[in-house]
Amino acid sequence: MPRPYIASVPDRPLLRRQFDVLVLGGGIAGLTAAIAAARRWHVGLLTKASLNDTTTFLAQGGIAAALGESDSPELHFQDTVAAGAGLCDPDAVRVLVSEGPDRVRELIEICPRFDRKDGEIVLGREGAHSVRRVLHAGGDATGREVSSTLSEAARLGSRVQLYEDEFVIDLLTIDGRCIGALSLNLADGEYTLNLAMVTILATGGAGQVYARTTNPEVATGDGVAMAYRAGAALRDLEFVQFHPTGLAAGGSPTPLITEALRGEGALLRNAAGERFMTTVDPKAELAARDVVVRGMLAQMRAEGSAHVYLDATGLDPDMVRRRFPRVTALLSEHDLDLSRDLIPVAPVAHYFIGGVVTDVWGRTTVPGLYAAGEVASTGVHGANRLASNSLLEGLVFGDRVVRHLDRYIGRLGEDVRRLQFELPARSGPAAQRSDIAAVRRAVTELMSAKVGWVRTDDGLVDALEELRAANSALRLGEAGPPEFELLNILTLATQITKCALLREETRGVHVRDDYPERDDRHWQRHITLRLPQARTAGGRS
Ligand code: SIN
Repeated sequence: MPRPYIASVPDRPLLRRQFDVLVLGGGIAGLTAAIAAARRWHVGLLTKASLNDTTTFLAQGGIAAALGESDSPELHFQDTVAAGAGLCDPDAVRVLVSEGPDRVRELIEICPRFDRKDGEIVLGREGAHSVRRVLHAGGDATGREVSSTLSEAARLGSRVQLYEDEFVIDLLTIDGRCIGALSLNLADGEYTLNLAMVTILATGGAGQVYARTTNPEVATGDGVAMAYRAGAALRDLEFVQFHPTGLAAGGSPTPLITEALRGEGALLRNAAGERFMTTVDPKAELAARDVVVRGMLAQMRAEGSAHVYLDATGLDPDMVRRRFPRVTALLSEHDLDLSRDLIPVAPVAHYFIGGVVTDVWGRTTVPGLYAAGEVASTGVHGANRLASNSLLEGLVFGDRVVRHLDRYIGRLGEDVRRLQFELPARSGPAAQRSDIAAVRRAVTELMSAKVGWVRTDDGLVDALEELRAANSALRLGEAGPPEFELLNILTLATQITKCALLREETRGVHVRDDYPERDDRHWQRHITLRLPQARTAGGRS
C-alpha cells in the first residue's frame, strides 16, 4: 500500500514560500500556465532540473494544429478520435482542436524560428493525420525552440518566480484540499513548504518507469504518483505509448527517430529489405502509431529479430540534413548516416497517455489542484495519441487552467493563506539499506520485459508479484531524491501493471497477446483508480 506521504520532517528547519499560484514543472504546459497566471497573480514555478531538462525540450516532430488551407478543426477532430481507438473524450478533443489554432498563432508570434517557406509556415505530415498539419521549428528541433522561447518569456518577460533544481516530493493537503507542495533544493539541500491557493501540476510523463525510453532522466512519474498519494483520481494508466522508431543501438535516453521522417517518405523494411507495412494498413508507414508498432511486432517475431529498419536512403540527402539536423547529429554519434545506412529501429516507451483525471478546465478531483500536459488525463488521446498532439495539449490546457483560476481563487477568499502545515514524523533508521540503483534497474527492466508494448496474463501476474516483493523488501532509511524517485516509479509500475491486467483486450497502445481483439462490448470504458485510504497527516494551526 503506498504511503500517503513519502516526505517526513527533515532534520533541518523548513523554509517557507507563499504564492497565489504554484506551478510544478517547466515543460510547455507549466511554462504556458505560469506565464499566463503571472499577469495577474503571484506565481512560483518549481522544476526538478533545469528548464532544458524536459520532455518538451527533446520533442522533435512538432505541434499539430489545423492551420493549413485544406485543414479544419473538424478534420483534426476526426483524425484524433480515429487514432484514439474508441476512448477519446469528444468534449476534450473539441476543445483541443478548436482552441489549438489560436494558441499556436500566439506561439508563432513569440517564437520566430518556426520553419517557413516563402514566408509561409511549413506544415509536416505524421502518422494518421489526413493532411499536412504539423508545425516544426529548427527542422526537428521543435521542442528545443519552443522550450527556449517560453523559458525566456518566463525568465525575462514575466513576474514568474522560477526555482530550478527543486525536487517536489509531495503535494500538501488539508481536509482534502491541496495547499501547495513540499520541495527539496538539489543544490543546497534545503526543504521548503510552498504554500499556494492553487497548485498546477505540469510535471510531465513517466517514461523512466521503463528501462528504455525516449524521455529524459527526470521523467519518473513524480507528479502522477504524488497526486495519487494526495487522493486524486488517476485514469488510463495501462495506455503507455511506445514510439515505433527508437534507435535500436543503445543510448539513454533512447534516441528518437522522428515520425516526421516517415512523413517525408522514409520506409520501414524487414531484414530481407522488404517493406511490410503495405500489407498491414492502407496508410502503410503513416498508419497510426499503435498500428505501426503491431506491424513491426509481427515482423520481428517472424524473423526472430529485435528490430526492423528505417530506410531514408531514397530521400534527397540535402533535404534530410536540413530538415532533420537533430536526428542526423544523434545518428552520427552511432556512426550512422540517414543517406547511406538502414537505421535499426524498435518501439520504445515514449508517452504516458494516462494520468491525473481532469475536466476540460484542468481541474483534478482534489480541490485546489489542477493538472495540464502529459501528467494529466484530459481524455484527448483516448487509447492512442495522435502524433504531435501532445505539445498542443500542453499549450491549450496550460492556458485553460489559468482561465479557470479566476473562478476558483475568487471563491476561496483569504483563509487559505493562513493555513499551516505539519509533516508526518520521521521513521527510524533502517538496519540495512536497499541498493536503490539496483532495485530501480530491476524494476524498470521488469516493466520493459513484462509490461511493455506486448503483454500477457502470465507476464503481468509475474510482474505484479515481483513488484509487490520489491516493494516489501525495500529498506530506505534516510530518504533523498533517489529513494523518492524509486517510490514514485514503484507506485506507477504497480498501478500500470494492475490496469494492464484488468484490461482483457487489445486496444490502441495496449496490446495483449492473450486477448488480441478489441472488445467494445466489455471494454469501451476507462479504468479509474484512487488511493483507498484518506490522508490523516497535516493540520491547521
Ligand atoms: C516524433 O517526432 O515522432 C514524436 C512526436 C510525438 O511524439 O508526438
